[in-house]
Amino acid sequence: EKGTYPYYMLKEIDDQPTVMRRISQEYTNTLGDAVIDEKIIEKITDSDRIYIVACGTSYNAGWVGKALLERMTHIPVEVHLSSEFGYNMPLLSEKPFFIFLSQSGETADSRQVLVQTNELGLPSLTLTNVAGSTLSREADYTLLLHAGPEIAVASTKAYTAQIAVLAVLAKAVGDNKGNQSSLDFDIAHELSVIAAVMETIIDEKMVISQLVEDYLSTTRNAFYIGRGVDYYVSMEASLKLKEISYIQAEGFAAGELKHGTIALIEEGTPVFGVITDQKTAAHTRGNLKEVESRGAHNFVIALASLAKVTDQLIIPDVYPLLSPLVSIIPTQLIAYFATLQRGYDVDKPRNLAKSVTVE
Ligand code: F6R
Repeated sequence: EKGTYPYYMLKEIDDQPTVMRRISQEYTNTLGDAVIDEKIIEKITDSDRIYIVACGTSYNAGWVGKALLERMTHIPVEVHLSSEFGYNMPLLSEKPFFIFLSQSGETADSRQVLVQTNELGLPSLTLTNVAGSTLSREADYTLLLHAGPEIAVASTKAYTAQIAVLAVLAKAVGDNKGNQSSLDFDIAHELSVIAAVMETIIDEKMVISQLVEDYLSTTRNAFYIGRGVDYYVSMEASLKLKEISYIQAEGFAAGELKHGTIALIEEGTPVFGVITDQKTAAHTRGNLKEVESRGAHNFVIALASLAKVTDQLIIPDVYPLLSPLVSIIPTQLIAYFATLQRGYDVDKPRNLAKSVTVE
């Protein structure tokens, strides 16, 4: 029910702090340990490589999952688009483990991969929001996202829920292997910090609405740039913006822009820089300078410890690899307000359906 909300998307953005707390309740105990089916933990611990397979927003969440899983489990992770993987299957490792990410659990592109991995007898897990969905029934194991129904076509809370559940899974496997990086990761505490920070950003929605008017009211295109997890967030932020506001948006690895795409920067082109990673902050700032000198209208989203007073949006610090859970929130609101201001239907963008059941 969207209740007093004008659009489901806004309600679903607002739901995210609650979803983080729910995931923490469902998947951690009072000692702060991750609580996940032992069989899943054993299978992943036993594998030599994890393959994440997904489409769209779920694919973008998969990249953040890769960063978390590799840090905590020390197992290499590959992230693949379902629609490519099935027809151009890469050479698999000896003991692969497959993770399918699918909000709906019904995406045909992902299912065709699962049919093949099942034929090969390879172990699989589906992370989905829908109990009893096709991908859930056909995979060996399921972890539910507990995000509540997602109605708006543009996915928001499923993205953050997927990252949070992957973080718990990474912690569970990492702890099982006795990895220090994982033992030091207090997931329950970090998710509660995240929920509170999400609330502070959501409370600033009218500030974001005003910034969107300043930056996006007349533009036909926009860029998001970042490095590492900030690049992964840039991919998702640009998908969100383009799919509902129809502003042509691209998410770019900040360092790659100058290898061609910078040619598209004109006077007034909005460039959103995402800066949450201390290792790469200075480099991304350098890339923002490069585009600014070519006329870009820069908009910086930064964690407080890395921020400058001139940055447009400053977010309280959180656990570094979990920063996508909070840096994505302003970008969801940016997409929402850009769409509203252009007078389009936020929940039902043209040409799109909520679940894509054809290949
Ligand atoms: C974007 C969006 C789509 C879906 C994609 C996969 O906002 O909703 O890109 O993420 O179609 O859907 P699921 O996760 O249901 O497999």
